[in-house]
Amino acid sequence: MSGLTRARKAAAVVAATAAAAATALISAPSAVAAPQPIVGGTTTTTSAYPFMMQITDASQDQFCGGTLVSPTKVVTAAHCMVGETTSSVRVVGGRTYLNGTNGTVARVSRIWIHPDYTRVTRGDDVAVLTLSTSMPYTPAPYVSSSDTSVYAAGTTTRVLGWGTTSSGGSSSNQLRTATVPTVSDASCRGSYGSRYVQSDMVCAGYSSGGVDTCQGDSGGPLLIGGRLAGITSWGDGCAAAGYPGVYTRLTTFSDAVTAQVRG
Ligand code: ARG
Repeated sequence: MSGLTRARKAAAVVAATAAAAATALISAPSAVAAPQPIVGGTTTTTSAYPFMMQITDASQDQFCGGTLVSPTKVVTAAHCMVGETTSSVRVVGGRTYLNGTNGTVARVSRIWIHPDYTRVTRGDDVAVLTLSTSMPYTPAPYVSSSDTSVYAAGTTTRVLGWGTTSSGGSSSNQLRTATVPTVSDASCRGSYGSRYVQSDMVCAGYSSGGVDTCQGDSGGPLLIGGRLAGITSWGDGCAAAGYPGVYTRLTTFSDAVTAQVRG
């Protein structure tokens, strides 16, 4: 059921190597002792983060996150929307628990996927959903194209989601959050080589690992100073030392997002 639903989208992650998984086990014992989605994070609620949306299938099984940026527009990852149609997707707001039935369910009238998107390691991992009905929740502000300084290395960011406890693990019933520092472009290129597309991506995580987003968190927000600044996109494994999470660098796409939000 939902595990398989999520596994479908988790397939978009670059396969964790056995070596990366082994590194995580050695370098992040606390995360292994108490595995938690948004590895290393804490539970939270959609009351605390009202713009935090579940992206679900027609059965309301969550497979990605999204961020409400206007009453009828949700920013998510392009890779979350591959193979989806306006009839296959729902957006659920105000629902802290995956097994909840509360909150607001909206159908989707339009899916915009960045036209250049091919795969997560080539960038352009952004999509905007237009809802058929308005969400009664306060949207999140997002960065503008000139805000490029927000990603300065070491800046504290906040990530949110219902993702898995480990690559191939199961999801958290309750929304979780964690804070992770941004990583310099040079360092992230050192981790991922040419798969790190500096213009389109930004990395966040501790060099020792232990705190990260994971499968099922994709599409959800990376917040800097309370504004949407990134979209959970990919990584090798989860919370592995030397392999930070990779997020869509939203300043590069904020004008394109704004065109969709107004359109
Ligand atoms: N691609 C994953 C998803 O679809 C997100 C993976 C994030 N990985 C990481 N190590 N930060 O949910």
